[in-house]
Amino acid sequence: SWTMQSFAQDAVDKIKNQVGDNQVILGLSGGVDSSVAAMLIYKAIGRKLTCIFVDNGLLRQDEAKQLKIRLKQHLDINIRFVNASRDFLKALDKVTDPEKKRKIIGRVFMDVFEAEAKKIKDVQFLAQGTLYPDIIESVSAFGGPTAVIKSHHNVGGLPKKMKLKLVEPLKYLFKDEVRLLGKELGLDEDLVWRQPFPGPGLAIRILGEVNSQRLKILRQADAVLLEEIREAGYYRKLWQSFAVLLPLKSVGVMGDQRTYENIISIRAVTSKDAMTADWAKLPHKLLGNISNRIINEVKGVNRVVYDISSKPPATIEWE
Ligand code: XMP
Repeated sequence: SWTMQSFAQDAVDKIKNQVGDNQVILGLSGGVDSSVAAMLIYKAIGRKLTCIFVDNGLLRQDEAKQLKIRLKQHLDINIRFVNASRDFLKALDKVTDPEKKRKIIGRVFMDVFEAEAKKIKDVQFLAQGTLYPDIIESVSAFGGPTAVIKSHHNVGGLPKKMKLKLVEPLKYLFKDEVRLLGKELGLDEDLVWRQPFPGPGLAIRILGEVNSQRLKILRQADAVLLEEIREAGYYRKLWQSFAVLLPLKSVGVMGDQRTYENIISIRAVTSKDAMTADWAKLPHKLLGNISNRIINEVKGVNRVVYDISSKPPATIEWE
């Protein structure tokens, strides 16, 4: 659109003015916000931008792989991929408290990101895909402009030790505007319409302890769910849709065998900005398909339930 075109041009000019000849780093999460921010900054300063993507081992099925392909295809950008899965899983071992998980993931992310950033010479700026609602939410909750409530939003806050100046080209935009901007910049449709995915990833969608066995089950269930949601034409209508692993055992029967396995909860919500959300009134047929497929295809699951709570008082994520 005309508005987005002029916004994009304006934003590119501002970035050029702000950073001059300096090097900029940006943490790519694979989501819309950081990708759009990367595109804008790339337009402004080209290969003086270096993006860092940290694979934390808490991503969905094939996500890191697809992301690599997609980004390489679309952007002739400097991108560094760091696989730090083992560091994250080790640090999360036996941890059950949701906020502890977040803290640990945030800390390991910072360490990995910082170590990678140090390999790049003369970096002066750190770019982030912060949106307007991210700023309001943290201000209203804590009375200050530091993102505490979602400390890992958009792949993390500023590593303080690094003393970098911030570049936040999206900070007055809402999600729907960022999507329009992404389209305007020629970003892949799939990327533009991606549902939000939290920084701590699948770790906060497994209640309690996170381990590779549980991650495997959740990944498979989530992939089935998303496939069915997409096929039924619901993906873009939903703010988020995902599976949650409840590592509680319940009894079932398969053939003539008694089973005693985990539960998967389906979460699907509509929302404008995640401050409030309604549980989605998905057709029973779709829910039935998801349930049948998960129970038949995912080893370790014998029961699927649908979460019919809205926000507030429930939150979108289970942890
Ligand atoms: P809740 O669960 O608070 O989630 O209703 C609101 C939105 O924020 C996402 N979310 C997070 N994003 N780091 C993130 O980057 C986090 O720790 C985190 N917790 C929740 C959630 O997916 C939803 O879109």
